[in-house]
Amino acid sequence: MIKTSAELRQAFLDFFATKQHQIVSSSSLVPGNDATLLFTNAGMVQFKDVFLGADKRSYTRATSSQRCVRAGGKHNDLENVGYTARHHTFFEMLGNFSFGDYFKEEAIDYAWTFLTQVLGLPKEKLLVTIYETDDEAYDLWANKIGLPAEKIIRIGDKSSAKKYESDNFWSMGDTGPCGPCSEIFYDHGEHIFGGPPGSPDEDGDRFIEIWNIVFMQFNRQADGAMNPLPKPSVDTGMGLERIAAILQGVHSNYEIDIFQNLIKDTAQLLNCTDLEHKSLRVIADHIRSCSFLIVDGVMPSNEGRGYVLRRIIRRAIRHGHKLEAKSHFFHQLVASLVKQMGVAYPELVSQQPIIEKILRIEEEQFSRTLDRGMALLEEILSQLKGDTISGDDVFKLYDTYGFPADLTADIARERDFKIDHDGFDIAMQQQRERAQQASQFGTDYNEQLKSDKVSSFKGYTNSEFSATVIELFNNEGSTSQLADGEQGVVVLDHTPFYAESGGQVGDSGIIVTKDGTFEVKDTVKVGHAFAHKGVARTNIQLNARVNACIDVERRQAIIKNHTATHLLHAALRTVLGDHVTQKGSLVDNEKLRFDFSHFEGVTSDELKQVERMVNHEIRRNHKRDTELMQIDAAKAKGAMALFGEKYDDEVRVVTLGDFSTELCGGVHVNSTGEIGLLKITSESGIAAGIRRIEAVTGEAALNYIDNQEKSLASIAHYVKSDVGSVIDKVEQLVNRNKQLEREFTQLKQQLAAQAGADLVSQAIEINGVKCLIAELDNVLSKDLRSMLDELKVKLNSGIVILATANEGKVGLIAGVTKDLVGSVKAGELVNLVAQQVGGKGGGRPDMAQAGGNQPENIKSALASVSPWLTEKLT
Ligand code: ALA
Repeated sequence: MIKTSAELRQAFLDFFATKQHQIVSSSSLVPGNDATLLFTNAGMVQFKDVFLGADKRSYTRATSSQRCVRAGGKHNDLENVGYTARHHTFFEMLGNFSFGDYFKEEAIDYAWTFLTQVLGLPKEKLLVTIYETDDEAYDLWANKIGLPAEKIIRIGDKSSAKKYESDNFWSMGDTGPCGPCSEIFYDHGEHIFGGPPGSPDEDGDRFIEIWNIVFMQFNRQADGAMNPLPKPSVDTGMGLERIAAILQGVHSNYEIDIFQNLIKDTAQLLNCTDLEHKSLRVIADHIRSCSFLIVDGVMPSNEGRGYVLRRIIRRAIRHGHKLEAKSHFFHQLVASLVKQMGVAYPELVSQQPIIEKILRIEEEQFSRTLDRGMALLEEILSQLKGDTISGDDVFKLYDTYGFPADLTADIARERDFKIDHDGFDIAMQQQRERAQQASQFGTDYNEQLKSDKVSSFKGYTNSEFSATVIELFNNEGSTSQLADGEQGVVVLDHTPFYAESGGQVGDSGIIVTKDGTFEVKDTVKVGHAFAHKGVARTNIQLNARVNACIDVERRQAIIKNHTATHLLHAALRTVLGDHVTQKGSLVDNEKLRFDFSHFEGVTSDELKQVERMVNHEIRRNHKRDTELMQIDAAKAKGAMALFGEKYDDEVRVVTLGDFSTELCGGVHVNSTGEIGLLKITSESGIAAGIRRIEAVTGEAALNYIDNQEKSLASIAHYVKSDVGSVIDKVEQLVNRNKQLEREFTQLKQQLAAQAGADLVSQAIEINGVKCLIAELDNVLSKDLRSMLDELKVKLNSGIVILATANEGKVGLIAGVTKDLVGSVKAGELVNLVAQQVGGKGGGRPDMAQAGGNQPENIKSALASVSPWLTEKLT
């Protein structure tokens, strides 16, 4: 009997293996090289190019258990998770595929055999749908399988205007392989609400789709055109969780083995006794998608895939909050997930610590604003007229408190409110425009340049090259000549000048004509033309023959930094982990700057380790190899490519011995030893999850060390020591300074006490009570308190009011000894004076302080004290 999810996964793959299918392992959730798709959302994604005929495999039949995420993008189930028995952000899809091999007949036959014979499902519980016009499928189900007519339901397009928009026409995304499909449903029984597919109650949970068999026939184009595939093919998908629910005799996916264990562990962690609580399901679902997305290299961020991940994490945290989670709980569930799925997915085990760390950091960040955001949302809801939260409010929650719109929607939905999605989109768009405007400093001269010329780059091997001027620009645009002294742009047919790209800055140098030069300050690409920007030092004509010479010394410094950047990248991945990916870089003749993904500051130990490793690889003096190859071959070789970057089929691969292999079009040193030395000069965070390292190499690294030495020498000079003992000397000085500060404070206190003693003698008697009314010079308000205490002790019985002015502010303190508080309250006394100097005060009966801002009124205010006291003390 097949029962557990693990047994089921295995039985499926084994069954199709006996039907000559190649077992293929699950691909990453981040589709390789497919910009049209956010996440792998079906088993067929890794075979997309095979269906299209663009990729050939050694097999024409395949089977897999594919991890999928359906959140964000076309197939988005995020909002339904927790509300239905069967929606997930993460799930596993079992599938069998035919690439131009078998078609409808075998596909239907295999599915039926597996369900009824291998799994032993009762036939009478199954029913199917087909695309409205697919008579061939109807015939197979009716006559080959023998299903009664009422169990074969035809489903058409949603409307006549929307051709192929149907539950029985499946497409991967807005473009790509697609075709009509036939779905198999399971009837969970009359006791559950819901109607058969196509009926008004089809959204209920009684009839659940378990297997989708797609007859792949078309490649949908961006303009909607349906081009036929090279050969009709088959793509099927069966949700592992759904079929496991049936085998385990439960109705909801959340009751199957994997989920029950996750839910129990979550409940225990959160002290929740209601195991049916919807939020437990949401959290159990979300820990799966979040963990696997991180395994596949996605990091929480504010855009693209990273933002979807962040939204899911925040939704989970909010549901934990609903269950009154006391502390950061979400990352603690990774251990439970590893227990459930670690055997099937070993990468989960090896990356457990990283996943936990990333989730914990997200939890810490979000919990700082969650409460305040919730308070604002409560306020918005309490004042809401109608049932829709405005786009501006949704945006405010997003912008100020990090509430993703779907999180706000989720909370709103619980209270029967909606959000204005369109209004939110508009507010977002407006913000983007504002940000853009803020970053525009007027149009760049560069952007006005347009050229359809082609220059060929000779600078990998040459620092000089003879060439012809094929285009000229001055400030007005295209021109046939540049005058002596005029600024402009020269385009050459061949050039050794590197044009800025891939983080490497453009070259500078000179272009020599027969009667003078053009000084090149920078080189940029304009289309396929290389534009040399600078100043003419002679008259330059179109079509002139010239000799182009780069500034070799500057170029040498640049390429040292560039090669060192590759070493740094590889070293960071070795020391910090494979989650490190390049997010940006800048390489010029002075320094290198490298931005990369990492979730926390790099410690000084780690930095040292990275720096040592890079220098070690410099000394190993690897020969630099450059090779042109096919992108697939490059990837197979393990070349690091930039995520999301589009590469041509043929790419340039730069290899530094056994240490680094990267796709790169830049210029590099011949052997790493030329770099000489690398010194890291700074490490900092530039955005959430993104760090920046700056470093110098070669001559600049030596200069850097020289400067450090110079600073050290000057410090030694100032503290009258030598470099060797400067640390001891500075330590001594710091300690001595602390000691002096202590003594100074003591002395000040003594002086204050003395002043206090002098003051006592100024006390006057009012109706037999000693009263001290005094203005003090420049005493800090904070010192008034100790003075007062002192005075009260000295007077033994009496009343004190002190005032002082300091930098335009008035400080007041009043004190009344215990025996007199029956007649005079310190609070009233201080208030009497405070009111006259622009302040207000109050406090205890025996001691009260106040401030004010009219020092010029201190004298008259104090003068009013004596009459007031005389009255009080009668
Ligand atoms: N690719 C099909 C689906 O996801 C099988 O439903």
